[in-house]
Amino acid sequence: MMEEINEFDFENRIVSNEYDSTLDGEVENCLRPKTLEEYVGQQKAKSNLKVYIESAKLRGEPLDHVLLYGPPGLGKTTLSSIIANEMGVNIRTTSGPAIEKAGDLAAILTNLAPGDVLFIDEIHRLSRVAEEILYPAMEDYALDIIIGKGPSARTIHMPIPKFTLIGATTRAGQLTTPLRDRFGVLLKLELYTTEELATIVKRSASILEIAITDDGAEAIASRSRGTPRVANRLLKRVRDFALVKGNGTISSEIANYALEALEIDHLGLDNVDRRMLEAIIKYYGGGPVGLDTLAATIGEEAVTIEDVYEPYLMQIGFLSRTPRGRCVTKLAYDHLGIPFSAQGNGSAAHLGQRVMDLDN
Ligand SMILES: Nc1ncnc2c1ncn2[C@@H]1O[C@H](COP(=O)(O)OP(=O)(O)OP(=O)(O)O)[C@@H](O)[C@H]1O
Ligand SMILES: [Mg+2]
Repeated sequence: MMEEINEFDFENRIVSNEYDSTLDGEVENCLRPKTLEEYVGQQKAKSNLKVYIESAKLRGEPLDHVLLYGPPGLGKTTLSSIIANEMGVNIRTTSGPAIEKAGDLAAILTNLAPGDVLFIDEIHRLSRVAEEILYPAMEDYALDIIIGKGPSARTIHMPIPKFTLIGATTRAGQLTTPLRDRFGVLLKLELYTTEELATIVKRSASILEIAITDDGAEAIASRSRGTPRVANRLLKRVRDFALVKGNGTISSEIANYALEALEIDHLGLDNVDRRMLEAIIKYYGGGPVGLDTLAATIGEEAVTIEDVYEPYLMQIGFLSRTPRGRCVTKLAYDHLGIPFSAQGNGSAAHLGQRVMDLDN
C-alpha cells in the first residue's frame, strides 16, 4: 500500500485548480478580465451583481459587503477587482492569514478612502480577534478600541469611512455565523461549462498572441475541469507543443496530442485523480470511505481533497458524497475500465459479485 502512495505526485500538478506561482506566475494578472462585460460565465452572480452595483451608484452609497465563495481558480479574486472597477473605487487587498494582529486590520480600515473596497482573501482563516474588529466595522462603520488596562480601561467608538468588504473563501462553511450574517450579498461561483471555457481560452489566446482554432479551444476547454485557471494553464502548455511539434497554431489535433503527452485524459483527469479513484476501489470496495481515512490512504490533506479533487469529480458524476463517506460511481468504473460489481463496502462488493455469478 505504501509504494502505491509514493506514486502520487501532488507537486506541479498541471490540472490542479490551486494557484501555483511557477505554473501561473505573472500571466494570471494579464489574463484577468477588468469589467463585468469581459468576465465570462457566472451569469447568475453577474446579473445580480449588476443590479446591486447600479443601485448603490444611484443611491450614492458604497456597495453592500460581498462574500464570494467557490472552489479555487473560478474567478473570485478577479471578480473582486472588477467590482471595485465598476464602482469606480480603489481596492485594498489582504488575506486572512496575513492579518496577524487586530491592530493590522484597524490600521487598514482607518486608511481606507470613502467607498473603497477592502478585499480579504481566504477570509475563513481570519483570527478571532481580527474578526471581532470587523463586526462593528461592517455594521456601523466604526472601530471599538479599548484604551488602557484594568479598571481604568475604556472603549472608544471611532468612526471609519464607509467601505465595502469583499471576502473570498473556498469554504463558506468554515465562516462563523456572525461574520457570514454581516454580508449583504452572498455569491456562489459555479464550475464553468465547456462552452464558457472555450470562450475564455480564445480570449486568453488572443491576449497572449497564440493562434488557435475553435476546435483547438474546445479540446482544451473540455479538459479544464470547469476551471478558468486550469484552462489558461493548459493553453500555455499546448502552445509549447504547437510551436515545437506543429506549425504554431493550436488545432484540435495538436491539442489532443499535447494533452495525451501530459497524460490528461479526455475528461481532464490526470494520474492523481485516477489513482485516487482506484485507491477507493481497491482498498474500500468503491466506498463509502470517510474523508479522513481517504486522506490518510493517499497521503493528502482532507481539505485539499475537498477543495481540489472532489468538486470536479462530483460534477462529472464520478464521486458521490453519502452520509457514510465517499463512493465511486459506476460511471467512474466504466471510465477506468474496471468492472463494476456492486455498490457498498468491500464485503458488499464481493457479495454483489457472488449474486451476479449465481445469476449467470
Ligand atoms: N469569468 C472569467 N472569465 C475569464 N477569465 C477568468 C474568469 N474567471 C477567472 N478567470 C481567469 O482565471 C484565473 C484565476 O482566477 P482567480 O485568481 O480570480 O481565481 P480565484 O477564484 O481567486 O482562485 P483562488 O481560490 O485560488 O484564489 C485568472 O487569471 C483569470 O484570468
Ligand atoms: Mg484568489
